[in-house]
Amino acid sequence: MPAGRRIVLGVSGGIAAYKAAYLARALIERGASVRVVMTDTAQKFIGSATFSAITGHVPVTGLFDQEDVSPHTSLGQWADAIVIAPATAATISRLAHGESSNALIATILASTAPVVVAPAMHSEMWDQPSTQANITTLRDFGYTIVGPETGPLAGGDVGVGRMSEPYDIADAVFGLFPTPDMAGLSVLVTSGGTREAIDPVRYIGNRSSGKMGNALASNASNRGADVTLVTTQEGPQDAALEIVRVETADDMAKAVWEKAPLVDVAVLAAAVADFAPRNPSTTKLRRADGAPKIELVATPDILAGVNESNPRPLLVGFAAEAGSLDAAAAKAAAKGVDLLVANDIQKTGSGFGSVTNEVRFIFRDGSTRDLDLMSKDDVAARIWDAVLQLRSES
Ligand SMILES: Cc1cc2nc3c(=O)[nH]c(=O)nc-3n(C[C@H](O)[C@H](O)[C@H](O)COP(=O)(O)O)c2cc1C
Repeated sequence: MPAGRRIVLGVSGGIAAYKAAYLARALIERGASVRVVMTDTAQKFIGSATFSAITGHVPVTGLFDQEDVSPHTSLGQWADAIVIAPATAATISRLAHGESSNALIATILASTAPVVVAPAMHSEMWDQPSTQANITTLRDFGYTIVGPETGPLAGGDVGVGRMSEPYDIADAVFGLFPTPDMAGLSVLVTSGGTREAIDPVRYIGNRSSGKMGNALASNASNRGADVTLVTTQEGPQDAALEIVRVETADDMAKAVWEKAPLVDVAVLAAAVADFAPRNPSTTKLRRADGAPKIELVATPDILAGVNESNPRPLLVGFAAEAGSLDAAAAKAAAKGVDLLVANDIQKTGSGFGSVTNEVRFIFRDGSTRDLDLMSKDDVAARIWDAVLQLRSES
């Protein structure tokens, strides 16, 4: 973990400003020192006292009448990285045009530190040609743009424009300072839930969001590994990742088995269907034709296939259990994995869709380690730490 980094957090005036407090905390939890600079409008959405309490330092709220006679140059030179979250359309525009009329933009202009921008706004504002042109300009400057995501927005609207989750933004910030302890390693990660067609419209699926696998891929990539991600989802926006998109368990098995003998480590985090319809209908099933009888067949056991590959990579499996982790130990023994990561999806803050996870590591020799509830990014980092440890012992 890149501890001791100095991060300037710029907060501009959008409804997501309250989430910047969570981001400040997430950065500090990961060992960073954080200083906050706020626009005037940001202070209408969240009080500077909140950031004073979280960071231990009073935020910079202007260029003049501050404790420091030149706050923008002091902050800009102090920073190892600058992150703006939320970044409003107005702030993005000012930044794209070098308009340093407030302390936030002046700090960025007075710095050589890398910049991460997390936009947050209504879909219409995000889709404006002016906003899109400004974002393109910022990308051309070499700034990292995180999000925005699609989801619920202020006022009950739904669409693109929602600020990325603080843990994801923190990950992007720390991604600027890779610890290359996985350099030279090639790893294969799977993520998401498979979809097995019933007819052209419907499928049998599951609730997996792909967050855990994506966090694993990002963390390994940030640490210098050569990463292939086989996923049913979009995958993280990281050009360094080789992303293979698949939909069904069959597709995933083919992609994984082809790659498995070529990598050092395989971490199978995807939720793969155990059964698929034997004969999916080529036409849409109609209610008028009555309830269909759907015959199911077992899908390929991807993990077992990797276990038999030659050469065999170090193998990490996942077990999503409901109610208790007792069955997971038996699974670990039966599957012959080097490490099984088990979680109870019925536990609060754990499992599908959640940004956090509480897992138990079950090692090949039967020993276990229970981890506290933590972000999926942190769980991912711990899994790779354990993998490196296992490799050093073998
Ligand atoms: C209730 C409310 C919510 C707002 N939320 C956003 C937002 O999420 N994103 C955005 O770009 N602008 C939003 N605005 C508009 C900005 O506050 C406005 O453009 C302001 O000038 C931004 O200033 P700043 O970028 O200097 O902080 C909102 C305005 C109001 C009144």
